[in-house]
Amino acid sequence: MQISNYHTQQEEIACTTIMPTRMIPDMVDDVRQSLLKTPRSLSPKYFYDERGSELFDQICSTPEYYPTRTENRLLSKYAIDIIRKTRPDQILELGSGYSTKTRRLFDACEAMSQTCIYAPLDVCEEVLIESAQKLSEEYEWLGLNPLLGDYHGGLGNLPASNGSHLFVFLGSTIGNFERAEAINFIKEVYKAMRYGDHLLIGVDRVKQDNILHAAYNDAQGITAEFNLNVLHVLNRELKANFNTEEFTHSAIFNKNKERIEMRLISNTDQNVQINDLRESIQFDCGEDILTEISQKYTYTGIEKLLTEADFSITDHYQDEDAYFSLVLASK
Ligand code: SAH
Ligand code: TRP
Repeated sequence: MQISNYHTQQEEIACTTIMPTRMIPDMVDDVRQSLLKTPRSLSPKYFYDERGSELFDQICSTPEYYPTRTENRLLSKYAIDIIRKTRPDQILELGSGYSTKTRRLFDACEAMSQTCIYAPLDVCEEVLIESAQKLSEEYEWLGLNPLLGDYHGGLGNLPASNGSHLFVFLGSTIGNFERAEAINFIKEVYKAMRYGDHLLIGVDRVKQDNILHAAYNDAQGITAEFNLNVLHVLNRELKANFNTEEFTHSAIFNKNKERIEMRLISNTDQNVQINDLRESIQFDCGEDILTEISQKYTYTGIEKLLTEADFSITDHYQDEDAYFSLVLASK
């Protein structure tokens, strides 16, 4: 067996950097394109520095944030079925974070004596390394190949490997794409796969707005802190001088578009310097920055998303309240 291209427990774990196959804007370009113009917005990938990843992890265990619990339950219940149907030699996860729920798949592999390589792809290097180290201790048989990169543009450069692949995209991260972008992205995932490979995707469903509202406005204020953390990222990376006390977290369910819209709202008239860009932004009191959308999908909406990209749906798992979908599809 060839073991040189992934890491076993004895070795120091390092990430493989995935270069994009097309030009993707860096933080400076993104800020010029989206923050310096109105309506103002920011790409959600900038949330996830080390602190942001930690805060997101804390959001996942708040009582209000049902998606993580529900998806984890679905994975616990159906992992054996998924592994039996996919028999993966490699599990490739997009936006893996701490890989907490992915462990349900590894548990099933273990129960079925299915060894495999795990290739988590994320933009946050610290979390990739910390998680890979823990995983190598918990699952000694698991090969690890952490991939540092952006799934926008990086999918065409994933390392080639033999055997069957299970692509995994959990946490309803697909909801963070606009509907049209989501279809294009799923098509790119399809292109990166080989015939016979599978995709397992977790998608949050449209539901009563009070439940959705609570999930993005937890009582402990962790989501608010997470949202505001992106301003610290800009302060550090671009020498900006945002005062986080002068902005307020807002997350509302837009019923028309069936999506959560998360914003930072300026509490006063204020001027913020972005020193690395030699620019400043004048915020009026009440003016906002759109920091993330979280699109919710119906059952048929999810199936349409996948079939429009030519995927065949193998299974559509959901909980009894139909709060969350876990869909297994094949190319
Ligand atoms: N899959 C985990 C984490 C979801 S949070 C879960 O279900 O709980 C979204 C994750 O995607 C974070 O770990 C973040 O660092 C990563 N991410 C965000 N934008 C990304 C991008 N453009 N490319 C790769 N990873 C990204
Ligand atoms: N993909 C997750 C979602 O849309 C990301 C997320 C959950 C999130 N809670 C958040 C992002 C709060 C920012 C702030 O549900």
